[in-house]
Amino acid sequence: MHKTKDTSSTTAARVEALLARMSLAEKVGQLNQIGGAEWSPGPKPEDIIRQGGAGSVLWLNDTRRFNVLQKVAIEESPSGIPLLFALDVIHGYRTIFPVPLAMAASWDPAVAELAQSVAAKEARAAGIHWTFGPMIDIARDARWGRIMEGAGEDPFLGAAMAAAQVRGFQGTDPTDPERVLACAKHFAGYGAADGGRDYDPVFLSEAQLRNVIFPPFEAAVKAGVGTFMSAYMDLNNVPASGNRWLLHDILRGEWNFEGFVVSDAMAVGSLVTQGFARDRRDAALRAFDAGLSMDMASNTYLEHLAALVSEGALSLEALDAMVRPILTIKVRMGLFEHPYAEEGLLERVVALPEHQVAARLAAQRSMVLLRNEGGLLPLSKDLQNVAVIGPVADSMEATEGSWMVFHHQPAAVTVLQGIRAKLPGARVTYAPGPEIRRVSRSPFEDLESKPLEPPQTPEAAEAAFQTAVATARDADLVIMVLGEKADMSGEFASRSTLDLPGRQEELLRTIAALGKPVVLVLLNGRPVSSVWAAEHIPAILEAWEPGSQGGAAVADILFGDVNPGGKLPVCVPRSGGHAPLYYARTLTHNPEGNPMYRWDSPTTPLYPFGFGLSYTTFACSNLELSESQIKVGASVAVSVEVTNTGKVAGDEVVQLYIHQRWGSDSRPVRELKGFERVTLQPGETRKLTFHLGPAELGYWSTNAGRWVQDAAAFDVWAGGDSQATLHAEFEVIA
Ligand code: GLC
Repeated sequence: MHKTKDTSSTTAARVEALLARMSLAEKVGQLNQIGGAEWSPGPKPEDIIRQGGAGSVLWLNDTRRFNVLQKVAIEESPSGIPLLFALDVIHGYRTIFPVPLAMAASWDPAVAELAQSVAAKEARAAGIHWTFGPMIDIARDARWGRIMEGAGEDPFLGAAMAAAQVRGFQGTDPTDPERVLACAKHFAGYGAADGGRDYDPVFLSEAQLRNVIFPPFEAAVKAGVGTFMSAYMDLNNVPASGNRWLLHDILRGEWNFEGFVVSDAMAVGSLVTQGFARDRRDAALRAFDAGLSMDMASNTYLEHLAALVSEGALSLEALDAMVRPILTIKVRMGLFEHPYAEEGLLERVVALPEHQVAARLAAQRSMVLLRNEGGLLPLSKDLQNVAVIGPVADSMEATEGSWMVFHHQPAAVTVLQGIRAKLPGARVTYAPGPEIRRVSRSPFEDLESKPLEPPQTPEAAEAAFQTAVATARDADLVIMVLGEKADMSGEFASRSTLDLPGRQEELLRTIAALGKPVVLVLLNGRPVSSVWAAEHIPAILEAWEPGSQGGAAVADILFGDVNPGGKLPVCVPRSGGHAPLYYARTLTHNPEGNPMYRWDSPTTPLYPFGFGLSYTTFACSNLELSESQIKVGASVAVSVEVTNTGKVAGDEVVQLYIHQRWGSDSRPVRELKGFERVTLQPGETRKLTFHLGPAELGYWSTNAGRWVQDAAAFDVWAGGDSQATLHAEFEVIA
């Protein structure tokens, strides 16, 4: 039966017309998201869709299959409402960009926006309407595997990256066939799990939530994000997916969010597991009451919502109110008029040369130069005999990183390939050294039923170790490429240490002892930490998981075609035992005291937040304030000059930090309240201006139980990282 296409009236009228003719069961169906992958549990998707029992399908990545299921929805279900197809497109669909933590390291929201616009174009061409991104959880414990998915430890940088990614994914026109619906996740607090252990409970004060965790989410709402995803874990003993304070009071009540909220996978059913809901009926009722719109893959809404309405536990008005935003988004996106994907379009879009160009640019801008003692870098292109050593040096999978879409075939330019391309006439040898592998198999491997490869035997590992040392011995210079495999960061990938996995550090030390120049390139999702390398290896480049063009971008930087300008979006602790660690902390009692009195090791990070070197040098000067005293509610302009004091052009990220010396609450020793990445020619000076007003100076006070802006004295610093020394001060008066 072919549905009449209702394209005449306004969106609201169309939605009301749809609601008027939908049965109770169909309304519930719109709140149900089903798994479309071959491994998804439950009945065949076609059967559920035909009955109007699903509004969205996830975990499917197959254009032809999208169209098959869509046809069932439109032509066979009672009201013919099109499906939303959703997938985790986190940092690229086929063209892979640096992981979001790396894109945050660019301190360049424009590059994050560009990357996500390319990801959106490819994903939409494949038939995906909705990505479960951006992930914007603040994370301050690098043991947590998913720190690689977010924008690091700071709410100001995180908010800028959140808004930029929403703009990249969604664009400005909901009917744009080259964009996708975005999803701000995981609301809220997931990155603060106890001990960095994935899914573990989270305990955060209202002040921590409002001052640290919420800003990226509020920025996403202001950027127009269409959907939110509620997190798995207990937040202060109330699961985020059943948390009315989060989903109703804050999200809708304070932020006026008009989109809809999908749960994380199985999270509604998990309310029983978490000891919150008595049974699945209770779970459905309490998640719904909390404001959760769509049940991802747990089937709990489908099983119980209709009965809850019939029994009067839920009102039909409340049900309609939950369905309305979903239908509104489907109408706005034009899915009723254009429900099908064009088979074959994806290959044409992926072939666009500008996609790989964008991937290489994003990778170049995300890398952070951590050490360059004696100016070892950039390397000469006249090198004739180079050894490239390490288990991820020629790994496409490690170069692309965690969170690939299902059935993705790795295709990155590896670091080895990038170096060989730069030195076509040289002898570039390679040895992986001993393999690295997770301690336990990743559930993702089970889902995709990847073959279980037997671990390397100790004998084979030792042989590989010796081969690597011998290869290094034969070369004039060694480039070590160490770090993590893609499955060592991301979901299901928290670790108890931040060490280089396996025998990598041992191999590094052994090869460094050969006395040849050694450059270390790190490929990792979470920050990894080697105090020994920081003290003994002259050149260290943090390349993160840089994506399709990662190896080319590493070579661009190592050989000086690109001057690195990235800065750390998260500090690097000395060890896993030092986490959680972050710069924006309050002073302690006895702050002048030697931290060694209180601790068995320095409490300072190996590399601080905001840190990154360049092949040139920069200096900031003339930090000036428009006023030395302002009233509460007013703003002060802060200007600073930055000069390229070196011999080559380069980028500097000028950062502005404040410290409120006293107030309603104790305040952090420093907080980022402004940044700008600028490119300067040798000798060039640029004047930058920032503004500090109520938005930057106010905060949620535990003591006052509300937003406050105190009358107090403030320090201001400006410079190239969170330890900037160029200082000024001003006062806010009542
Ligand atoms: C996963 C993740 C979430 C993802 C969802 C759908 O468990 O927590 O980030 O979007 O399930 O794949």
